Amino acid sequence: AESLSKPVQELLVNGGELPKKYIYKKGENGVADASYPLIEVPIIDMSLLTSQSAAGEEELGKLRSALGSCGCFQAINHGMTASFLDQVHEIGKQFFALPPDEKQKYSRTVGDIEGYGNDSVLSERQTLDWTDRLYLTISPEDKIKLRFWPEKPENFREVLNEYTRNLALMNELLLKSMAKSLNIEENCFLEQYGQGATMTARFNFYPPCPRPDLTLGVKPHADASSITFLLQDKAVEGLQIVKDGQWFRVPIVPHAILINAGDQVEIMSNGMLKSPVHRVVTNSERERLTLAVFCLPDSKMEIGPVEELIDKERPRSYKTMKDYVAIYFENYQLGKRPIDAVKI
Ligand code: SIN
Ligand code: FE2
Repeated sequence: AESLSKPVQELLVNGGELPKKYIYKKGENGVADASYPLIEVPIIDMSLLTSQSAAGEEELGKLRSALGSCGCFQAINHGMTASFLDQVHEIGKQFFALPPDEKQKYSRTVGDIEGYGNDSVLSERQTLDWTDRLYLTISPEDKIKLRFWPEKPENFREVLNEYTRNLALMNELLLKSMAKSLNIEENCFLEQYGQGATMTARFNFYPPCPRPDLTLGVKPHADASSITFLLQDKAVEGLQIVKDGQWFRVPIVPHAILINAGDQVEIMSNGMLKSPVHRVVTNSERERLTLAVFCLPDSKMEIGPVEELIDKERPRSYKTMKDYVAIYFENYQLGKRPIDAVKI
């Protein structure tokens, strides 16, 4: 069983050594190297996705090729103002700036993921991520556990709820657009996503780390979600992504939302859309704050490749199953890439 350890943010406030459980062995997981190249992440104009025009068709083509190659894109013209997104970032920043006792009121309990805390210990050999998190269910309303929602800053709840409403609409638009871009009926993915789907939010706080060469902010993984929305830090880079077997730095596009396909979209699309492997590196100078929102299909729904995307040239690559998130965590714990467990 795990025991909760000190928040990363408080580990080195009085100096001292980097604890061993955060340190990778040389060469293991290929920790930070400032010389990785930047990847060009396609930019998609969300306002064009609903347009019946030639420009709309072109944007759908861009969406398909973005998700079919690097598995992500930067969404612009998404309907949220820059000042609103600054507020979303600010509520996270202000939460992590609260005194330790104030944050502890929202601590997750051992074995749970929801609430405030550092990396969950799932196995003894695990190297911990250099990050503190605040993890919250944000939709549907009856699954929200308000006891984990900070009362400070005062506008925390209101701003996060407003952000949730915006992303829920974007999620629906994207599930339809992805289907259209693959020339299948537009509700194919939405139907599997289901009525009982949930959305969760994770604020990720990365304190500066004295040894970026020995640590990772987040170890390499692909997401369990169908789609993930990431509000990056506006000034501090850290996210890296694998494309064609190489690591690349993901650039910051201020006030764009970085959207990536998760494993469940890769499965539903029979591999036409890709769930990219990514990680976060640390730096010794500046803290970094991001907000990831995960859309998670109804665990009671069957998730599997859409029939129309299976043919002789492209045989079925994944099983059909329920509750992929449970499969994900079982395999993740064992250090395996979860999606491999459902590959055919
Ligand atoms: C994650 O993928 O878990 C976090 C991404 C980020 O903070 O940039
Ligand atoms: Fe991720």
